[in-house]
Amino acid sequence: MRLGIYGGTFDPPHLGHLTALKAAVRELELERVLVIPTFIPPHKEQAAGMASCEDRLKMTELCFGDAPGAGIWDGEIKRGGRSYTIDTVTEIKKLYPDSEIVLLMGTDMYVTLEAWREFERLLGLVTCGVFIRNSGEEDTVRTHELRLREMYGAKTEIIPNDPVEISSTELRELLPKRQGREFLRDEVYEYIVNKGLFGVKADFDWLRCKAYDMLNERRIRHVAGCEAEAVKLAKAWGCDVELAREAAILHDITKKLDLEGQLNLCSEYGIIIDEIERSELKLLHSKTGAYVAKDRFNVCGEVFNAILWHTTGREDMSLLDKVIYLADYIEPTRDFEGVKSLRAKCYEDLDGALCLGLEMSIADMEQYGVRPHERTANALNWLRKGEHYDNTERDG
Ligand SMILES: [Fe+2]
Ligand SMILES: [Fe+2]
Repeated sequence: MRLGIYGGTFDPPHLGHLTALKAAVRELELERVLVIPTFIPPHKEQAAGMASCEDRLKMTELCFGDAPGAGIWDGEIKRGGRSYTIDTVTEIKKLYPDSEIVLLMGTDMYVTLEAWREFERLLGLVTCGVFIRNSGEEDTVRTHELRLREMYGAKTEIIPNDPVEISSTELRELLPKRQGREFLRDEVYEYIVNKGLFGVKADFDWLRCKAYDMLNERRIRHVAGCEAEAVKLAKAWGCDVELAREAAILHDITKKLDLEGQLNLCSEYGIIIDEIERSELKLLHSKTGAYVAKDRFNVCGEVFNAILWHTTGREDMSLLDKVIYLADYIEPTRDFEGVKSLRAKCYEDLDGALCLGLEMSIADMEQYGVRPHERTANALNWLRKGEHYDNTERDG
């Protein structure tokens, strides 16, 4: 069997890695490739802002796991300590004694081979599979190939590869800017967002796709309207626009679930609910939505709270809480008596509008025989006492 070995830190593994692996399988007719994430000591990982061994291994599985011929080998991570290629190759040779091992590497690695530990023994055990990106690299490889063959009997095969122009280092810089997603497999990107690796902030297009997948048609229009309104309000009142956008996109993600589904999520996340909430879908979805947003999309505390309180309001609402509560209430697809004047008030007097919104909400519920939640009354009392002015200044 022709068996490829493809090692790397894979921090994170990206489409450039995947394209290279596929090129190797195709060009060299490899039956199998072992993808091997390198062990890196935890203190070094932390110092360099890298992901842990466990996370790199998981991302590697998500990136390559279903590529034809690929298998993940965690031997270097399990072994710990510094791994030399010769140790790994020796171990693999024991596991696959009848295989022809093809060691995959870039041109930069190939030209330094003679500095590797026990390189002569290594060259006796493997065929070098070298990725070349252009004719310049091909010339370099050909020159070295000749010498390495004559001096050490080395075997070399060339893998033409149309590279994806990205590196893991560049990706680690792009991800906190809500960029770079196009260079990653969706599964890997989702894992990075979910675990909050590399200080990632979720790309808004991606976040919308994920949120809209959980909603029905009508709700999608409402959420899109809410996002637009939240951004407008955030700009008008000096609130963080990105957090407002994120909270608005995610605020109703569990809205489609029935009572049973909501209660299941409550027990799954250990959400404490009171008597009124237990029977009220409208109240439950804001709580479950906040927990799902935190669990799946790793939202920060401010976004979590804005989602958590978007239905009832509460005492001590932050500026973001107010923006989301009101955007949800007045977004362009909303149509009820008084919506126009409430909309106008939102841009003149935010707290006055919030007061009015809470009053309208209480009146609305009473009309339908639903007991308003005491948090809504508390929010209203707090606003009427004027304590909110301090809070707004603090937030602003
Ligand atoms: Fe909602
Ligand atoms: Fe909503």
